Amino acid sequence: MVLLSSWIFNFHVFVTFLLLISCGITYGTETDILCLKNIKISIQDPNKFLTSSWNFNNNTEGYICSFYGVECWHSNENKLMKLELSNMGLKGQFPRDIINCSSLTGLDLSGNDLSGSIPDDICSLLKFVTTLDLSSNAFSGEIPDNLANCTYLNSIKLNQNRLTGQIPLRLGTLARIKTFDVSDNLLTGQIPNFTDGTVSVNYANNQGLCGGSLGVCKANGSSKSNTAVIAGAAVGAVTLAALGLGIVMFFFVHRVSYRKKEEDPEGNKWTKGLKGAKAIKVSLFEKSVSKMKLSDLMKATNNFSKSNIIGTGRTGTVYNATLNDGTAYMVKRLQESQHSEKEFMSEMEMLGTVKHRNLVPLLGFCVAKKERLLVFKNMPNGMLHDRLHPAAGECTLDWPSRLKIAIGAAKGLAWLHHTCNPRIIHRNISSKCILLDADFEPKISDFGLARLMNPLATHLSTVINGEFGDFGYVAPEYAKTLVATPKGDVFSFGTMLLELVTGESPANVALQTFKGNLVEWIAELTNNSELHNAIDESLVDKSNNNELFQFLKVACNCVSPSPKERPTMSEVYQLLRAIGGNKYNFTTEDEILVTEDIGDNNLEELIVAREGNN
Ligand SMILES: *[C@@H]1O[C@H](CO)[C@@H](O)[C@H](O)[C@H]1NC(C)=O
Ligand SMILES: *[C@@H]1O[C@H](CO)[C@@H](O)[C@H](O)[C@H]1NC(C)=O
Ligand SMILES: *[C@@H]1O[C@H](CO)[C@@H](O)[C@H](O)[C@H]1NC(C)=O
Ligand SMILES: *[C@@H]1O[C@H](CO)[C@@H](O)[C@H](O)[C@H]1NC(C)=O
Repeated sequence: MVLLSSWIFNFHVFVTFLLLISCGITYGTETDILCLKNIKISIQDPNKFLTSSWNFNNNTEGYICSFYGVECWHSNENKLMKLELSNMGLKGQFPRDIINCSSLTGLDLSGNDLSGSIPDDICSLLKFVTTLDLSSNAFSGEIPDNLANCTYLNSIKLNQNRLTGQIPLRLGTLARIKTFDVSDNLLTGQIPNFTDGTVSVNYANNQGLCGGSLGVCKANGSSKSNTAVIAGAAVGAVTLAALGLGIVMFFFVHRVSYRKKEEDPEGNKWTKGLKGAKAIKVSLFEKSVSKMKLSDLMKATNNFSKSNIIGTGRTGTVYNATLNDGTAYMVKRLQESQHSEKEFMSEMEMLGTVKHRNLVPLLGFCVAKKERLLVFKNMPNGMLHDRLHPAAGECTLDWPSRLKIAIGAAKGLAWLHHTCNPRIIHRNISSKCILLDADFEPKISDFGLARLMNPLATHLSTVINGEFGDFGYVAPEYAKTLVATPKGDVFSFGTMLLELVTGESPANVALQTFKGNLVEWIAELTNNSELHNAIDESLVDKSNNNELFQFLKVACNCVSPSPKERPTMSEVYQLLRAIGGNKYNFTTEDEILVTEDIGDNNLEELIVAREGNN
């Protein structure tokens, strides 16, 4: 907490932020060792798994990371991310000492003989838990209502225990929950209402559960009070989260509620605050654009109405704007940030000069009271994401278009990394930030904006990486180090390439047989030598199999777990261009990068060489 609050006073200074992060890396070390020592003492280990593996006579930083069942944030730092002690025959009570593993996000104690009740303050022991698996033990008593305070939970597995009583209805308020399994217990009463219909639930083999898909509960007047409980709990949870987990949490909740507001029918309420500011001029970088005032932007976006929203992302909400003369723009309302107006202005000045064929041009900006609005050139063919995952009936992109988009986007990002001065790390690459102009030429949007966001908000959403929205794209080391690097962008870009060639969504693969994100799925297919099965069926059998496979290999190199093994963006660009670039006539005159032509033969060698280096 000391560390976190010091961030709050320093986040406006980016450098300080980075310094503090590096301090953060050693934070928690002693406590995590103590955590494991105490767990080892408190838990009975008849098969002596822990006795042999958990040897504390070692001073090497990161030594506990090689312990059985331990996964650290960094292999050279004693800080636990996950603890997986399944099927070890462990006995005793739920290990409360877990509280000192203060950065833990995953706990798996399944398949043991643990008994007693689940602690009724479980969420104060596991503040950041995203996956909790206590299945196949002998836990008894009730499921604690407190579990609903673990707001990051993605997965709860309590199946095959002896749990009794009602399932706390407040669990229905868990916003990120994807898996909820309480089968094979002795539970009774109403099941919670998960707001998101896609939650995978299992209530089988209990004593008498009802409600929802299980059928109406017998009338006993309890359902009314249930609704009140849920409503009250929702309010309570928000308040407590803000107070209890400190200011970091406040920022987060704030972000979430901000998004909710945006979806509200009265979503443009915030524009009321702009009344007195309508005459403010939009500062323009391009002389070709006719002069604009805030009032013009308001008119052009229908007062920033909900129906004009094109997309909402981490950096803000984008509105479609059409001026009186018919010219179209995109206006981005930036997410609130603590950066001063001066910092914002200097950032804008820099971004206004960043111009490249594969970047969405920033035409101007406007600061009105607390609002910061950016005006961009319109991109008629919208987000690549929507073209790759079209609504039913719409057609998707063919292979040459996908290859062309990949090459153009790689070129834009390579330019940001290698040519632009100062270099820009994007940090938010996804198929939602690749926009398509009238000729389906890809243009990267959102570059340079991540720096304007609150580091804290970015930090937290990264820590919770996993099943958080678009975060199928986030490089694994980013969640650990919190330092943005070009290789982090390469990972996200590689995920986007995988999306292009497989047609699957990065956050979760739409297969019944596989639960996990796209990169994990590809890793599994690679292990089983089934990588060819990953390719989008609509693309195969068109005499381009060789290209598809080469493309897939480039993508796989980009998502290599170790940043060192990933190519640079300039290499990615060259590799992609070499795949059929000549055949499709993509090579463009205006090469900004120092490129030497590599033929198809060299490409294979390059990939092999890269793999050899691993
Ligand atoms: C372990 O956790 C307890 C309870 O939060 C705390 O009082 C104690 O200081 C922690 N120990 C260490 C070494 O951090
Ligand atoms: C200490 O831990 C490191 C890292 O796991 C390991 O390489 C080394 O062999 C260990 N030393 C002893 C004395 O166990
Ligand atoms: C968590 O939930 C419980 C209800 O079991 C409540 O009493 C408690 O104050 C909550 N704690 C926090 C920190 O939100
Ligand atoms: C769950 O939702 C349904 C329909 O949305 C509603 O009828 C029911 O009362 C809700 N249950 C609870 C416990 O709120």
